[in-house]
Amino acid sequence: MFFGTPVRARHITRPARSFQTERSVMPVEFLGIAATHDGSETHPRSGASFDKEYTLRLARAHEDHGWDRVLFAYGSGSPDPAPAAAYIASRLDRLGILLAHRPNVSYPTFAAKTFATLDRISDGRLTVHFITGGNDHEQRREGDTLTKDERYARTREYIEIVKRIWTSHEPFDHEGEHYRFHDFVSDVFPVRQPRPDVSFGGSSPAAYAAGGAEADIYCLWGEPLERTAEQIEAVKAAARAAGRTTPPRIQVAFRPIIAPTEELAWEKAYRTVDTIKARRAQGEATVVRHHRGGEPENTGSRRLLSIARSGERFDRALWTPTAAATGGAGNSNALVGTPETVARALLDYYDLGVDIISARGYDLLGDAIDFGRYVIPLVRDEVAKRDAERSAQGARTPIEAGR
Ligand SMILES: Cc1cc2nc3c(=O)[nH]c(=O)nc-3n(C[C@H](O)[C@H](O)[C@H](O)COP(=O)(O)O)c2cc1C
Repeated sequence: MFFGTPVRARHITRPARSFQTERSVMPVEFLGIAATHDGSETHPRSGASFDKEYTLRLARAHEDHGWDRVLFAYGSGSPDPAPAAAYIASRLDRLGILLAHRPNVSYPTFAAKTFATLDRISDGRLTVHFITGGNDHEQRREGDTLTKDERYARTREYIEIVKRIWTSHEPFDHEGEHYRFHDFVSDVFPVRQPRPDVSFGGSSPAAYAAGGAEADIYCLWGEPLERTAEQIEAVKAAARAAGRTTPPRIQVAFRPIIAPTEELAWEKAYRTVDTIKARRAQGEATVVRHHRGGEPENTGSRRLLSIARSGERFDRALWTPTAAATGGAGNSNALVGTPETVARALLDYYDLGVDIISARGYDLLGDAIDFGRYVIPLVRDEVAKRDAERSAQGARTPIEAGR
């Protein structure tokens, strides 16, 4: 049953609160990055692409500074994130693992066992982020010749199979469009019951349809509040269309640039963008290899570029030149300011219905520590306060409490 109507707040149309059970108990969560080396858009890599010692140091810094989980991303030539994640899970006790996985690289029966094994290694700390792939050229590097919309249909079938394998103790057959197999049952099941969470990203209609139907967590790249509200509503509409009674939780990603004063933060921001541009001019930053030669193909990156063309600053602290300088490469919009300003900006997204904040700096290790020390506690404290007030008022949802 759906209820709730859009409410105006600071001129932003909030997504309709149309699911009964949303956000009653879940605290805000923080996702960091599990890089396997110290390179970024502003820093050349100092060692190998899989630097074992750095991988552990960075993950441990997240665990020690209040983060909930870290993303092990996927790229065609990058170190395989699954064993990297297993390594971190076996060395750390609390940090959650978000493993990015592209369906085209393995059969779903195989992948489901890899995920279940990893969930056992991590004692139930695994979430899987299913990546459809936003660029044909990058997909072809590993033999994937489907169009983007076809890839989304395949991802959806793949997720359905993986979920069934995680939960089915009886052998079953599958006759789908992309996969056919007979008499399969896994002998390894996740610790997390009934199954690990499924995370999903993308901003095209095909992405909303597939992720709205299958995702527990829907991931967006940071955009102005108004544009984020539009995307949240599109995800929820897709979830309703798929017959769901609970929508995916929403995650939004930023590149925070913080400093002790506003002035220092803005100096740092301009320095950051100058460095990105200089490195790209020298051909050093490899992060956007697949975007060379024109406009990106994926809708999410196109949205970031069109927003950047329409302005540099939005809302409290959103700054788009970092996205413009990288060609809209994924998580690339910055939040600039003191920890207090950035925390307040993040709370605006929380008020919009965002449950998980994804953040990554440009100095990966130092920024993970600073953000964990100075921003995460401010956001957590304020969210706890607002949630307590809400329960004191006996309200069931933030909207009902007037947020
Ligand atoms: C939070 C987040 C993380 C992502 N991580 C990866 C990744 O590690 N590797 C990758 O190839 N694509 C990644 N993507 C890309 C998407 O999974 C998807 O392939 C792409 O955005 C599709 O484009 P669309 O906007 O046209 O639907 C990520 C997307 C989001 C939102």
